[in-house]
Amino acid sequence: MKETDLETKNIGLRGVKVADTRISDVNGEKGILIYRGYNIADLAPAATYEEVSFLLLNDHLPNTQELERYGAELVSERNVPGAVLETMKLIPKSAHPMDLVQAAIPMLASFDPQLHSETKEANLKKAVRLIAKIPNLVAAWDRIRNGLGPVPPDPKLTHAGNFLYMLKGTPPDPETARDFDICLILHAEHSLNASTFAGREVASTHAHIYAAVAAAMGALSGELHGGANSEVMRMLLEIGEVGRAKAWVSEKMGKGGKIMGMGHAVYHTEDPRATVLRKICERMAGRCEDSRWCGLAKAVETATKEEFKKLKGKEIYANVDFYSASVYHMMGIPRDLFTPVFAISRMSGLTAHIIEEKYAEAQPKPELYRPDADYVGTYCGPEACEYIPLDNRAS
Ligand SMILES: CC(C)(COP(=O)(O)OP(=O)(O)OC[C@H]1O[C@@H](n2cnc3c(N)ncnc32)[C@H](O)[C@@H]1OP(=O)(O)O)[C@@H](O)C(=O)NCCC(=O)NCCS
Repeated sequence: MKETDLETKNIGLRGVKVADTRISDVNGEKGILIYRGYNIADLAPAATYEEVSFLLLNDHLPNTQELERYGAELVSERNVPGAVLETMKLIPKSAHPMDLVQAAIPMLASFDPQLHSETKEANLKKAVRLIAKIPNLVAAWDRIRNGLGPVPPDPKLTHAGNFLYMLKGTPPDPETARDFDICLILHAEHSLNASTFAGREVASTHAHIYAAVAAAMGALSGELHGGANSEVMRMLLEIGEVGRAKAWVSEKMGKGGKIMGMGHAVYHTEDPRATVLRKICERMAGRCEDSRWCGLAKAVETATKEEFKKLKGKEIYANVDFYSASVYHMMGIPRDLFTPVFAISRMSGLTAHIIEEKYAEAQPKPELYRPDADYVGTYCGPEACEYIPLDNRAS
């Protein structure tokens, strides 16, 4: 066994650094998240998603002209090719929206006029196209599966407001549009999480950006990653009322079950995004007819913290998915679109990482990720097993 094998095996790469990045920094001990040098606690209340998206892709905050140009570019790239929308109509209505998103991305690739240009400028354009089109794709799928026609994007609306408009067919009130904008900012980037690593790994093979993004979407769909937010809502719907939270959590954790939206592989204190989302949850509850979800989420959070302390003798904290679930529910977003909404937002950070990977911008590095594994299967002796032809094998 080589010395380097020792601590990197069977630990899910936790704590193993595989790359340098200039895009974001997650300080798990202090609960700080930095996008290109800026603290999200400062960006969330003041910036727009368009500004943050530009920052992630271009390594600086835009000036007025740059932001105008970038916003206009996003608006002009929103339309999804009609052939893609027609193909979506042929897919069973029961298809999970994340499968739909993952499948539609390579279809978008074939319509990209710059698909085979691998310059950085071309890849930045492709990133903008993906960021602009995914919200349209998600909203259109929700309409199509409900027997409705897709709503064309409204160029006057922001990235956030336009998504809610395309989903429902009526523009959101300005407060909800802004709160959704903040949600998108908070989910836009998070260093080398599972889906971003998947995307970078695929990009390292020189596959195109659409292939890398599609792979990342598969990783994002799992319930231990981007799928957690919709599982949180499933749990809240099942619990139903504050009075049942404590007993439900205690029973679930007593059986070794996990409380979705709680705990994090990197943060050992509160996820800074959850702090902002809790406030949005309170605001949404204040202007929503069915306001019980925020109170219920808080009761589940408290019960989980108490139970975890009792069982494991340590703290557990809410992560980004915990409060985003009730926030999206109160915004009228269907539960199985929560993860696609995560994808809509993460498209900025993800494409920034894929471009960083392609051009080794942070640090020269060997091309192509290629980890290793120790074979622990059968050998039948010092050499390989003897191959016995099929007819001679014992039945
Ligand atoms: C995110 C997650 C996978 C991180 O896992 P991790 O890195 O193994 O976390 P930890 O090392 O802190 O886990 C320590 C212990 O707490 C338990 N634990 C962690 N999260 C838990 C949760 N949400 N509910 C109950 N127990 C939990 C683990 O099972 C582990 O138990 P063990 O010591 O008996 O093996 C995990 O917290 C989880 O599954 N959370 C729920 C899913 C979720 O919200 N995912 C979205 C993340 S943004």
